Amino acid sequence: MVAPAEDSHAPARTTAEGIFLGREREVAELEAGLDDLLSGRGRLFLIGGEPGIGKSRLADELANRAKERVALVLWGRCWEAGGAPAYWPWVQAIRTYLREQDSDTLLSQLGAGAADVAQMLPDIQDLLPEVPGAQMSSDPESARFRLFDSTTAFLRNAAKVRPLVLFSTTSMWPTLRRSCSSGAIRVRRALR
Ligand SMILES: Nc1ncnc2c1ncn2[C@@H]1O[C@H](COP(=O)(O)OP(=O)(O)O)[C@@H](O)[C@H]1O
Ligand SMILES: [Mg+2]
Repeated sequence: MVAPAEDSHAPARTTAEGIFLGREREVAELEAGLDDLLSGRGRLFLIGGEPGIGKSRLADELANRAKERVALVLWGRCWEAGGAPAYWPWVQAIRTYLREQDSDTLLSQLGAGAADVAQMLPDIQDLLPEVPGAQMSSDPESARFRLFDSTTAFLRNAAKVRPLVLFSTTSMWPTLRRSCSSGAIRVRRALR
C-alpha cells in the first residue's frame, strides 16, 4: 500500500497520455508480472483505489510497457448502468482480438470450443460461418463450464503466438475497497 503519487525524484516517462510521475513500487510490481508473462507464466493483478487516484493511468502505463515488449493488449470495461450482455468485459476484449486475426488463425485457435465461445460472442458466427451453432444444454451449469473452458483454451492458444495482456475495469470495487485504506493505490497479486 502506498500514498498517493507525491512529488517524486523518479524519472518521469512521457507517453501519449502525457508525463507519468512516480508509482515506482506499483510499476515495479506490475512489470515483474510482465516479466513472468513473457517467460510463460500468467498473472492476475487487482489495482484498487479511490476515484481519481491514478488507477487508469497506471494501467495505461503498464499497457504501454507491455506493447513495447510486444505483448498484445486487450481492454474490456464493465458497464455499470446495467443491461450489458453477460461477460461484457470479455466480449469487448475478445472482439478486439477477433478483428485483428485472419479466419484460419481464429478457427485453429478456437478449435473444438468455437461454438461454445460463440455463445458469448455471436460475432464469431458472422466472421466464421463454418462454426456450428452451439448445442443447447439443458443444464446451465455445464453450459457455463464449457464456455469458461473453451474460452480459456482459446486465449491460451492465442497467447502462444503472442503474449496477451487483458485489462478490465471491475464493478467489484465496492467489495475490494473495504480492504484498502483511503488515499492509496493498492496493487494486489491475486493469482500465482
Ligand atoms: N502517475 C501519474 N502521473 C501523471 N499523471 C497522473 C498519474 N496518475 C494519474 N494521473 C492523472 O490524474 C488524473 C486521474 O487519474 P486516473 O488514472 O484517471 O484515476 P482513476 O482511474 O483512479 O480514477 C488523470 O488526468 C491522470 O492522467
Ligand atoms: Mg479510472
